[in-house]
Amino acid sequence: MSKVWFITGAGSGIGAGTAKAALHAGDRVVATGRNLDKVRNTYHDVASDNIAFVQLDVAQEAQAKAAVEEAMKQFGRIDVLVNNAGYSLLGNFEELTTADIERQFATNFFGVVYVMRAVLPVMRKQRSGHIINISSVAGVVGFKHCAAYGASKFAVEGLSLAVAPEVEQFGIKITVVEPGFFRTDLLDARNVRWGSNVIEDYAAEGNVQGMWSAYNGTQRGDPAKLGEVLVKIAGMENPPKLFVAGSDALATITPAIEGRLQATHANEALSRSTDGSF
Ligand SMILES: NC(=O)c1ccc[n+]([C@@H]2O[C@H](COP(=O)([O-])OP(=O)(O)OC[C@H]3O[C@@H](n4cnc5c(N)ncnc54)[C@H](OP(=O)(O)O)[C@@H]3O)[C@@H](O)[C@H]2O)c1
Repeated sequence: MSKVWFITGAGSGIGAGTAKAALHAGDRVVATGRNLDKVRNTYHDVASDNIAFVQLDVAQEAQAKAAVEEAMKQFGRIDVLVNNAGYSLLGNFEELTTADIERQFATNFFGVVYVMRAVLPVMRKQRSGHIINISSVAGVVGFKHCAAYGASKFAVEGLSLAVAPEVEQFGIKITVVEPGFFRTDLLDARNVRWGSNVIEDYAAEGNVQGMWSAYNGTQRGDPAKLGEVLVKIAGMENPPKLFVAGSDALATITPAIEGRLQATHANEALSRSTDGSF
């Protein structure tokens, strides 16, 4: 059966790759973004009645509600929500201001909260739905310069894993996607944000901007291929709760999880020593 997708940040990268793959599979898509001209332009070559364009800055809770209402007017249901909108704030923790970090959370975490809050009543009424939240390798492993970005993605993981067992009873599934480096606009100079509180002590280690900007345009992951995989995952009876996307992500996450398991076992006796007696 054809599905209705609601995708945030659908104007580029993984959001656009997913929307195009869903359309190719014969599904309908609500492509949302904060700059609707940019979103429309991304699909200028897609001749289809199966796509609707809807205004949504995910950091604005009222816009999330209005966008979901508009989607319901257009297509009458939402089967797959992809919380994809996000950007990266990079820099040593001390070089990030509190305002920088709050803005990062407003989009990457509260954006997910607002859209899930708006969509869950629809899916609960339908007694079906699939929420796909785009996290990151940085939502599983701690990387230097990713204190705020990583924390926002760890928060998305915690939110998703906690809500999943609450809504399972209504036929709603949640999948967290952990991509490695994908060739998108994420690290483009127009989108990435840097710490604004420069501290000389950190300069000796090298230039944070130079280090991360070097990845831009050289990332291995293909957002179109990830889109095709997300369409496959959305079609699964039992989709994964956590999905690692890309061989670079696998190479980082697998040893990190194994290392954590080893450390847990190594400290087992110490862990048990904190139990009180009845
Ligand atoms: N590419 C990677 O290597 C990678 C790795 C791990 C995770 N991810 C995650 O993948 C997701 C998609 O990113 P991408 O790589 O595809 O980068 P991208 O090409 O820059 O796409 C991000 C999209 O999010 C939108 N966006 C940002 N802030 C928004 C807001 N407040 N409201 C609505 N839309 C907003 C952007 O729209 P505007 O044009 O309006 O800015 C843009 O269309 C992000 O959550 C990112 O953290 C990416």
